[in-house]
Amino acid sequence: MTSSPAELVARAREAGERAYAPYSKFRVGAAVLAADGRVFTGANVENSAYGSTLCAEAVAIGGAVAAGVTELDAVAAVCLDGHGCTPCGNCRQLMREFGVARVITEDQDGDVVVRGLEELLPDSFGPESLG
Ligand code: THU
Repeated sequence: MTSSPAELVARAREAGERAYAPYSKFRVGAAVLAADGRVFTGANVENSAYGSTLCAEAVAIGGAVAAGVTELDAVAAVCLDGHGCTPCGNCRQLMREFGVARVITEDQDGDVVVRGLEELLPDSFGPESLG
């Protein structure tokens, strides 16, 4: 079973509806496509201690790992309250850990954009860097 980029964006948007973002009011949703075809979703979870906020991508990746799934193919991330956002640096690094190859976002017109993680996080540090 495969999920198209558009389907992953739809799943991410659905998850973003459940964001807990009372401080920024900036809702983000994410959908992770695992190598086995399963999809895990997440939304940002903010905190009154702002630094304790969890990004949508981190929640979705954490859900996959908590289910025992650590081989990930793609991550879709969408912002519900603005167009054209891309994953933050920390989330790019989280993707790197689990082999995410493709990152799916929407551009400012709401069109789906698929890029390689290598483009978003070049010359990166990963598990094999530890030797
Ligand atoms: N946020 C995400 O969920 N993912 C990102 O990649 C960037 C930012 C969230 C965190 C915070 O709740 C809100 O967006 C504003 O920064």
